[in-house]
Amino acid sequence: MSNVTVCARFRPLSSKENRDDGVCVRAIDSETFVFQDDKDDEFTFNLDRVFYQDSAQASIYDFLALPIVTDAVNAINGTIITYGQTGAGKTYSMEGPGIQDCDEHKKGLLPRVVDGMFDQITSSKDFASYTVKLSMVEIYMEKVRDLLDLSKGNIQIKENKTQGILLSGVTEVPVSDSTEALQLLCTGLANRAVGETQMNMSSSRSHCAYLFTIQQDSVTDKRVKTGKLILVDLAGSEKADKTGAEGKVLDEAKTINKSLSALGNVINALTSGSSSKVNHIPYRDSKLTRILQDALGGNSRMALLCCCSPSNSNASETLSTLRFGMRAKHIKASPRASEVKSAKTQEEPCSVTKDEKCGRVLDKMKERMSKEDIKMLEEVFIQEGIIFSLDSMEEVETGYKDIVSETIKSLEQTLEELQLKVKKLEAENKSIKEQALRKQESAAVGKMSRFISSWYASFFTS
Ligand SMILES: Nc1ncnc2c1ncn2[C@@H]1O[C@H](COP(=O)(O)OP(=O)(O)O)[C@@H](O)[C@H]1O
Ligand SMILES: [Mg+2]
Repeated sequence: MSNVTVCARFRPLSSKENRDDGVCVRAIDSETFVFQDDKDDEFTFNLDRVFYQDSAQASIYDFLALPIVTDAVNAINGTIITYGQTGAGKTYSMEGPGIQDCDEHKKGLLPRVVDGMFDQITSSKDFASYTVKLSMVEIYMEKVRDLLDLSKGNIQIKENKTQGILLSGVTEVPVSDSTEALQLLCTGLANRAVGETQMNMSSSRSHCAYLFTIQQDSVTDKRVKTGKLILVDLAGSEKADKTGAEGKVLDEAKTINKSLSALGNVINALTSGSSSKVNHIPYRDSKLTRILQDALGGNSRMALLCCCSPSNSNASETLSTLRFGMRAKHIKASPRASEVKSAKTQEEPCSVTKDEKCGRVLDKMKERMSKEDIKMLEEVFIQEGIIFSLDSMEEVETGYKDIVSETIKSLEQTLEELQLKVKKLEAENKSIKEQALRKQESAAVGKMSRFISSWYASFFTS
């Protein structure tokens, strides 16, 4: 069991930040620093690594991303997230000043991940053949938009027992080398929905996720392994009032805060409560947490880069970013290699059997329940977080299983009640029989005594 890797990065002071304001961070070493708030209270933070203002983009990739990329090529899922207020350096860390044709030293995590992934694939090509597919989505106003096909503006999130969380129908483009992948990433980035706030004129108000699926076909035994690698550049975590936003932009900020607080709630649920008791983890409260469910739930290696401004003027947002990171450090992750299947099984079209199964389950549900009951159950399931959408086959199956177990429980209860009733009736029956017997006996005695007295009377009178 390994923890989530949590790092902090302090960017240089920006031209807007007044040097006279001073800085809120004092370095101790590569893992520890002291944060000073506006009341001069000091907090010491200890993280997996701290990247100060002069740290190189390459050092962040080497420490935080390279181990995850290596694992993803070996079919262990990985997630890398940048978190922080708008303008704190999330996109700079993720992309660098640009994805293509950028200064080698300034290249961000994304182009380095792409290069690293293809380097590792090339060096291990003798043992397996690899297929890399790339998808890009943006979560904007609680809708998942496909950045590689804008006609898909509301991608549904589904769950599959073997593959985990899936984006239903998302565009997956096979890419054969770095150049192709970077070209595609640029196309996707150009499709992002952007807005302007006072914090950062070009900041995007949405979360952006880059998804790489690395499929490995073994040359020797025809087995297939898949590793999923997700990079997420989150929207700004600042409080809505700080952005000076109004109208639509304010709505965006509120939605962003909602999904980021959902992320915080999921992390709180994952890191609090006893290990013996299974907590309810509210993954379904936002699209963001639902997409990150596998990563947060443990079946993935995860790295979180908390991007911060060093300026005293942003101290309160920096503190809240650091606290978020400290909380996330306590998530326990236990990544496993993906299930290994033979190539044959993987290629078999399973949609037909799934559809048939779906039809059967729905027919059975319809047989037993009224429309209102199904609707009510659906609402209860969504409220309780049991299902997200009944469109998903697995969710219908789970829902159906729950109904079956509820029905069995209520039948068992009815049976118990009937057994009790039978016992009670048997006891009543017994006592009625006894009463009848007693009556019969007393009637016989009465008859006999009447016969004797009449016999006596006739004897003495004759
Ligand atoms: N480590 C850094 N070194 C140099 N400039 C940086 C660094 N981090 C961020 N910046 C600059 O700060 C500004 C805001 O960064 P950005 O990554 O867009 O913030 P965010 O994505 O968190 O809103 C950009 O102009 C960016 O170039
Ligand atoms: Mg950004």
